[in-house]
Amino acid sequence: MTLILGIETSCDETAAAVVEDGQRILSNVVASQIDIHRRYGGVFPEVASRQHILSITPVIEEAMDEARLSWDDLEAVAVTYGPGLAGSLLVGVNAAKGIALGCGLPLLGINHIEAHIYANWLERKGEPFDKPVLSVVEGLRTGPGIVFPMLCLVVSGGHTELILMSGDGQYQRLGGTLDDAAGEAFDKVGRLLGLDYPGGPAIEQAAQYGDPTAFDFPRAWLGDSYDFSFSGLKTAVLRIVKTYETKTTRSDEGSRRVAREPASRQLPVVDLAASFQVAVVDVLVEKARRAAQECHAEQILLAGGVAANRLLRQEMAKRSSLPVLCPPISLCTDNAAMVAGGAYFRYQAGYRSGWDLDVIPSLKLTG
Ligand code: KG4
Ligand code: ZN
Repeated sequence: MTLILGIETSCDETAAAVVEDGQRILSNVVASQIDIHRRYGGVFPEVASRQHILSITPVIEEAMDEARLSWDDLEAVAVTYGPGLAGSLLVGVNAAKGIALGCGLPLLGINHIEAHIYANWLERKGEPFDKPVLSVVEGLRTGPGIVFPMLCLVVSGGHTELILMSGDGQYQRLGGTLDDAAGEAFDKVGRLLGLDYPGGPAIEQAAQYGDPTAFDFPRAWLGDSYDFSFSGLKTAVLRIVKTYETKTTRSDEGSRRVAREPASRQLPVVDLAASFQVAVVDVLVEKARRAAQECHAEQILLAGGVAANRLLRQEMAKRSSLPVLCPPISLCTDNAAMVAGGAYFRYQAGYRSGWDLDVIPSLKLTG
């Protein structure tokens, strides 16, 4: 039995978790800073790192308490060392170093993208631990255990990558975004529509009541490439928002009304949200499906915050003949269980970090 403490502070969540043998979650504590960053409409890096400093010790203590463990029970300490915000990563890496050094435990630096991928290995509620991990898409499809090679679509606030994974820790990058990440596009469009932060869940919620065919937004197919671009789509939404702003101003000028209704009230927000969401999902699903086919993948795996999107999960399962793996919704966004989970296979393979482990804000998964 290998118990690993995972620590995650790459962006705006301070998180710590204890995971047994890469699958069984004994504790998973996430202190979200969303309420703090909401007022800025995005993550404010200096504020984020200061908040990590305040939260890191209580969060780690809570994770250890919840798991009912003492430091002696741990086998290793794993921490995200990139990619992410430098100041935020530093807090986690130094906390991990302190604990590992103080307790005489090995230290493992983990890539945040790899951790998102390994969220798919974590146990799902209601499934016995000794069974192989099943591919479960909200009951739509079940399949065999994990089989390589698999096509990974990693979609988060900072990343949109298509990766061919041929074994534990073996990755080949096929393509990625040329501009905004998928989650970033959700967040920016959410702001344009006057929705809550972060935009992803807010757009998904608004889209439930909208018509996805109301606006025919552009899809950037970029020929045969496996790359993505979402800036044109964002601009298309902006253009429509502006036409509504103009209309409001003109009608107000005519009617001598002093207090103007905010433009966003008159926007067909739910239709815009639904049409935007379907345009993003369409491109993500089609490119992942084609890449999986062309690379002879056995499975498709979704990872990252945007993988929480139900339309993406459903469409991927519907349009692909391959089994589709998604983490449970609660483990799609940043957490430390995925860090401890990803660390397990590395630990087994003999990987260890030195005490000179440093943060790498632009760390890549491949080459
Ligand atoms: O993985 P994550 O927590 O952080 C990064 O590594 O970036 O992803 C956060 C991103 C945000 O952009 C958020 O808007 C998006 O994931 N997101 C969603 C949903 N839930 C979170 N996007 C679309 N639909 C969702 N349900
Ligand atoms: Zn993330």
